[in-house]
Amino acid sequence: MTVMDKEARVSIEALGDHLDETVALQGWLYNHRSSGKIAFLQIRDGTGVVQAVATPSDVDAATWEKIQSLTQESSLVVRGVVRADPRSPGGVEIHLANLQVLQLAEEYPLALKEHGVEFLLNHRHLWLRTPRQVAIMRLRDRIMRELEDFLRDDGFTRVDTPILTPNACEGTSSLFETDFFGHPAYLTQSGQLYSEATAAALGKVYCFSPAFRAEKSKTRRHLIEFWMIEPEMAFYDYEDNLALQERLVEHVVDRVLQTCAEELETVGRDPAQLERIRAPFARISYDDALELLADQDFGIEWGEDLGAPHETAIAGAFDRPVFVERFPAKCKAFYMEPDPQRPEVVLAADLLAPEGYGEIIGGSQRIADYDLLLRRIREHNLPEEDFNWYLDLRRYGSVVHSGFGLGIERLLTWVAGLDHVRESIPFPRMLNRLSP
Ligand code: 4AD
Ligand code: MG
Repeated sequence: MTVMDKEARVSIEALGDHLDETVALQGWLYNHRSSGKIAFLQIRDGTGVVQAVATPSDVDAATWEKIQSLTQESSLVVRGVVRADPRSPGGVEIHLANLQVLQLAEEYPLALKEHGVEFLLNHRHLWLRTPRQVAIMRLRDRIMRELEDFLRDDGFTRVDTPILTPNACEGTSSLFETDFFGHPAYLTQSGQLYSEATAAALGKVYCFSPAFRAEKSKTRRHLIEFWMIEPEMAFYDYEDNLALQERLVEHVVDRVLQTCAEELETVGRDPAQLERIRAPFARISYDDALELLADQDFGIEWGEDLGAPHETAIAGAFDRPVFVERFPAKCKAFYMEPDPQRPEVVLAADLLAPEGYGEIIGGSQRIADYDLLLRRIREHNLPEEDFNWYLDLRRYGSVVHSGFGLGIERLLTWVAGLDHVRESIPFPRMLNRLSP
């Protein structure tokens, strides 16, 4: 197999700039049909799909034979003239003159028909080649890029945090334990505690990495390994934190609408649902949310955390994203600042996406007071010696600070209108899935 002459390379998305020229393009055979008098090859190269047309009079007999024997996903180099064709997806097609087969694919397991989801997940490495999955990955890339662009333009610095950690951030029940040269270590659940340290060094920071939760939840929203972006801001209080979240989500949705119309169409997402997303978002207190749920027979007690069905029911009462705020301290993490008016609740909010997609952001103001933080660490039975460095942040120049974590796959699942979070990450890790 050889790489074609680099000078001649044209990608499918750029074919429109080469009308009536002879080009060479390299790609994979997505689909084909031939009547014996004319053959149509659908070729994809990652930038798009184009149709190449051939007739026995345009090509020599050997090439015509080769065309007949092609198999789905064979890798090829096609040479021919680019012609305008308004009926084709990109407005062009190629009149094939020459075909080079780089590798004749074996019988492809993902034939172009409906497949069950387990089968598709087992073949995720191939499933990713289909137009819908390509569109989802492009949306994912766009979202990640826009999140970072927004934060950087707003004065944030990206500071990365470790994956291997000695301590728990989000409760000890979902820790992934591993062995660190004879000592237990855990895969990070969140970079937050470290970001609090870097915020005291750089002011406004964010970390962006995979996070791991050994959660036994088998829902449409839970992954074992997911990506989270976590801004942390010195001198931001609770309200500053929510205002930033609103601006950030509004920006990302807006940029997706501006740049990804084609991808949204491919995944079947109605842009009108996203065009309505404008700050300020709605707000409901945890207490009022419980009242709303009481009318619907959920049987949730004050002090319990909200689950996926509760979130769906609450979000259903609003046509915009909604912050559920001021949760009972006892159902949330140890580091959250109590509400000074009502210390049994904390200055924390979850942002729920509309249309039943659930929580996309969790955030809070952090405890600034040394004594209170130490008390909470003890109440949560966390190993004090591992949190000594974290307590230092309250010993040396403690300030009001806040932050949040936004789950990339949750945001993407909502923005793209996917049924399940499993399509939102290239290789999902779920309760019963570690491969491919
Ligand atoms: O609400 P969580 O657990 O908050 C934290 O980890 C904080 N330390 C973040 C911070 O304040 N810096 O998680 C934050 C977000 C959720 O809102 C959700 O979007 C996502 O992370 N998330 C998950 N996404 C997919 N699968 C899971 N199992 C997830 N768990 C959380
Ligand atoms: Mg949460």
